[in-house]
Amino acid sequence: MNLAVVILAAGVGKRMKSDIPKVLHTALGRPMLSYVLDAVDNLSPKRVVVVVGHGAEEVKKVSDPKKITYVTQSKQLGTGHAANCANSALKSFKGNILILNGDFPLITSNSLKKFIRDHAKKNADLSILTALVDDAYGYGRIKRDKNGDVIGIVEQKDATREERFIDEINSGTYCVKSSFLWNALGKINSRNKQSEYYLTDIVELAHKNSLKVNGVIVSDSDEVMGVNDRVELSYVEDVLKWRVNESLMRSGVTMIDPENTYISPEVKIGRDTTIYPGTHIYGKTQIGSKCVIGPSTWVEDSRFGNGVTVKSSCYITNASIKNNVSIGPFAHIRPEAEILDGAKIGNFVEIKKSKIGRGSKVSHLSYIGDTVMGKDVNIGAGTITCNYDGINKHKTVIEDNVFIGSDTMLVAPIKVGKGATTGAGSTISKDVPQGSLAIGRARQTVIKDWKRKPKDNKGK
Ligand code: UD1
Ligand code: CA
Repeated sequence: MNLAVVILAAGVGKRMKSDIPKVLHTALGRPMLSYVLDAVDNLSPKRVVVVVGHGAEEVKKVSDPKKITYVTQSKQLGTGHAANCANSALKSFKGNILILNGDFPLITSNSLKKFIRDHAKKNADLSILTALVDDAYGYGRIKRDKNGDVIGIVEQKDATREERFIDEINSGTYCVKSSFLWNALGKINSRNKQSEYYLTDIVELAHKNSLKVNGVIVSDSDEVMGVNDRVELSYVEDVLKWRVNESLMRSGVTMIDPENTYISPEVKIGRDTTIYPGTHIYGKTQIGSKCVIGPSTWVEDSRFGNGVTVKSSCYITNASIKNNVSIGPFAHIRPEAEILDGAKIGNFVEIKKSKIGRGSKVSHLSYIGDTVMGKDVNIGAGTITCNYDGINKHKTVIEDNVFIGSDTMLVAPIKVGKGATTGAGSTISKDVPQGSLAIGRARQTVIKDWKRKPKDNKGK
């Protein structure tokens, strides 16, 4: 089908009580709008137009600008006005236009596909995706005649008492022949309780012009739930969470407590990996098989190999963790950390923009930044790479089989050669040649028979 998509995302979202544009509020770490964009992407439309207005510049950052045309609705005069703003971008497009709201992240591409297929099969001029719900409050209601044909939509605020009893609601999703759409949008007015141009008014217009209007009831009404406030957002997030977790568990991932495990839909996790509660895994994260993660760990935009263990309360962003690595508890793994096979990062360790070689160990209380570390290195407790001189960052190189004594300060730029050792408590500011021992600390002095001063008991 020759299909173009228009997503309405210019609204203020008054009921969110927020400075952030509504469609940028997140569920499982992703903006609501991203979910809608993903659902339509799977329909392979010829064009996708997003109508932006409130917070336009931020909203535009959500998606790949190569795939999307943005049009601006500078004043939010209603959904009908918003849809009409897309006219300029779609003037030469002839075919069907799918219009949807940017605030219903539970919609699936499967339901949209069915909807569009039905529209084509019935050769409708206008199709609306509707739902039967227990609580229709706030939604536009679908009006049908005795034959069951859709004759119009009435908004909550404009509805009569009887109309409010209607339990079939408008999802805000329409498939419309372009020839009718632009014509109809030119005709609607704002004579209603909200003084807005309602997109819903094109339905009655189509009916009055004896065009074919097709109401399609969605099979799972959750999918069309619109988010208008933060209570609805939390409900939607819960549904999304369950969808993701259920599919991961069915594919072989163990979750100790799926209610308290937060994973965004684009995350990939291998078989026999176990996730403990309170763990959040977001962004473009990929996790291999036989890993154990959590409890209470945060992972974002990172790649894990197989057999990785991340113990309690770690924070990992933008890192690459290879096979059989052990991390934590209480470790902070920052962007551009690369931790190779079999390495161990222990408690209260921070790693930033550093490579930790195969089998190397940073077991306790250390900071490693801007470092390239070889294999089988042992870093003693309390070691710090002093990478920052107040102006610039400098590199530390630690070659294979080095043994860094506890509490060593490595003042960068510095290189510790293969197999070298540093004494505990040393401040190392000159390169250490391969195979040598470097000690940089004050010599111990011993004063024999030293008597402490007697205690001063004055005033007691
Ligand atoms: C709308 C529908 C209602 C339907 C419901 C489904 C109308 C008049 N009503 O109501 O029938 O049941 O969605 O969730 O269409 N927007 C703009 N510019 C505007 C106004 C809104 O871009 O000037 C965008 C919003 O960003 C939002 C979408 O349109 O993504 C829907 O707007 P909203 O105000 O949430 O409409 P509802 O009152 O929920
Ligand atoms: Ca809404």
